[in-house]
Amino acid sequence: MGVSSNESLANLLKEERRFAPPAELAAAANVTAEDYKKAAADRMEFWAAKARRLTWDIAPTETLDWSNPPFAKWFADGKLNVAYNCVDRHVEAGHGDRVALHFEGEPGDSRTVTYAELRDEVSRAANALTELGVKAGDRVAIYLPMIPEAVIAMLACARIGAPHSVVFGGFSADALATRIADADARVVITADGGYRRGKPSALKPAVDEALTRPGTEEVRSVLVVRRTGQETAWTEGRDVWWHDVVPRQSEQHTPQAFDAEHPLFILYTSGTTGKPKGILHTTGGYLTQASYTHHAVFDLKPETDVYWCTADIGWVTGHSYIVYGPLSNGATQVLYEGTPDTPHQGRWWEIIQKYRVSILYTAPTAIRTCMKWGDDIPAKFDLSSLRLLGSVGEPINPEAWIWYRKHIGADRTPIVDTWWQTETGAIMISPLPGVTTTKPGSAQNPLPGISATVIDDEGNEVPNGSGGYLVLTEPWPSMLRTIWGDDQRYLDTYWSRFENRYFAGDGAKKDDDGDIWLLGRVDDVMLVSGHNISTTEVESALVSHPKVAEAAVVGASDPTTGQAIAAFVILRGSATEEEGLAEELRAHVAKELGPIAKPKRILPVAELPKTRSGKIMRRLLRDVAENRQLGDVTTLTDSTVMELIQSKLPAAP
Ligand code: WT7
Repeated sequence: MGVSSNESLANLLKEERRFAPPAELAAAANVTAEDYKKAAADRMEFWAAKARRLTWDIAPTETLDWSNPPFAKWFADGKLNVAYNCVDRHVEAGHGDRVALHFEGEPGDSRTVTYAELRDEVSRAANALTELGVKAGDRVAIYLPMIPEAVIAMLACARIGAPHSVVFGGFSADALATRIADADARVVITADGGYRRGKPSALKPAVDEALTRPGTEEVRSVLVVRRTGQETAWTEGRDVWWHDVVPRQSEQHTPQAFDAEHPLFILYTSGTTGKPKGILHTTGGYLTQASYTHHAVFDLKPETDVYWCTADIGWVTGHSYIVYGPLSNGATQVLYEGTPDTPHQGRWWEIIQKYRVSILYTAPTAIRTCMKWGDDIPAKFDLSSLRLLGSVGEPINPEAWIWYRKHIGADRTPIVDTWWQTETGAIMISPLPGVTTTKPGSAQNPLPGISATVIDDEGNEVPNGSGGYLVLTEPWPSMLRTIWGDDQRYLDTYWSRFENRYFAGDGAKKDDDGDIWLLGRVDDVMLVSGHNISTTEVESALVSHPKVAEAAVVGASDPTTGQAIAAFVILRGSATEEEGLAEELRAHVAKELGPIAKPKRILPVAELPKTRSGKIMRRLLRDVAENRQLGDVTTLTDSTVMELIQSKLPAAP
């Protein structure tokens, strides 16, 4: 299916607000416009220089080997240890007393971990894994809540060259079993449970169940952190407590240098159909780009900033922007275990006030949820420490962007809207906070050293003002190397749609300045009476209405128009489902986007079905809109949401 090329639709987001970087930030920015020039002059030398930000045991002399595309090798003759780069070198540089993690548990317990303590803990955990027989190259599955041990476990694996496969703690035993089997993991690191919405929520039973499934027989040890103290079934000979084996280890551990292309981790992406894809990332190129982009996009000043990324370590944002990017740069960061509304809807803002957080990185879905709860909640807290805000995960609607800036950023902080994927490993398209004049709703420009563009069905670059498919036109250091165990699927999924270009699966358009606006997954484009309409644009139009907090739009098959637009909306705190509301919203969309984009049906709902990473599962809403039996709901955060939506469903008009 094509994406919007229609003249009237090409200008749908007539967003004209502009925000220049604050002068003070620009004057002291880590990265200036100079980096765009350097990268344009010599992309290879640019990345070679960024690799030199890391500490190598053997410095690479080669930058990129692209002799067998699309299988890339970056810095292939170099050797380094990722954990050394994230921990030890900061201690050796005299920053051992700097706080690495301000951990905040959901029940209100807290714990501070300095870089010196982190080095000791990671070393002990590395020694413990070695004692359990883990060798370089063995896969380790990690299934933990958001506690310091999650970070320690990942770094311990990296330290001994054992690729980790982190599985989100909210996933079911089924999902865990599939991932353990696919990666052929030898050890699972888990906890008795974690705190979720004010209650201990068990994790270990899911591991026990997963390990009864075929394909998981090779797991010989389960290392269990005691977090909640709840009763836990035990398999003698297989299960070991973290507190029995880790603390008694020596805090001395010599990190071994690994090849730049040694596998660092596998991370499974949900994928709408088929079995999950194990995205493989390697060592040198991944760390180079995760580290540089964190330094550039978040302008981190390690001596003074307090950084907080609210993602879970179970998805790639947690890997690159809680663990590897920030720690390689010596950041002080907040790690929070729980949900934003426990015990009250101001919890996040309370944490920002408590730790004087200066950089916040979160997702549009969270921002819209906070919008829905009301402006008065963040207003009760002192958020004056914030100087930079980030967004990731899906297109951010201009109204949510403006709300974020105004109510969280005091109309003062720049917002970086960062586009990337599990597959890209690190941020690819984003404003630079000290350089870019931002546009609400646009990720804008490829970062220095990154080549991206928008092309049409035939593979031709579209002119400014038109839409098409987002592609990456040159290899990048943190690119996925393959899909674990399935090179053919890697080729088919990303490199077969267009020759020599990486197909990201996202629709996008270029505005008149050539800036990129993401329009959602191409599967989320609707075809109404022969017009391509993106779900993102209709959702943004709905959210720009004062009564709407959040919207999800799908195309449902329709006998007359091909597809008809069905909109599921969550109303703002004070708005009610009064008569005439649907008509009012339809008229509003018609005014914003044109009559062709008017939803045929509007359904007010209390919640929307979302994946753990915050993406709306439009596929399920399409099932509802087309009166079909629901497809797989196992990756939903809350599976009761769909029952609620279905029970509210009026008969089709
Ligand atoms: C997909 C990748 C990257 C970490 C989190 C998601 C969407 C992500 C943006 C953004 C518009 C975005 C895309 C992309 N996406 N960031 N700033 N603007 N869309 O990782 O689960 O691999 O999902 O998320 O559709 O392809 P992921």
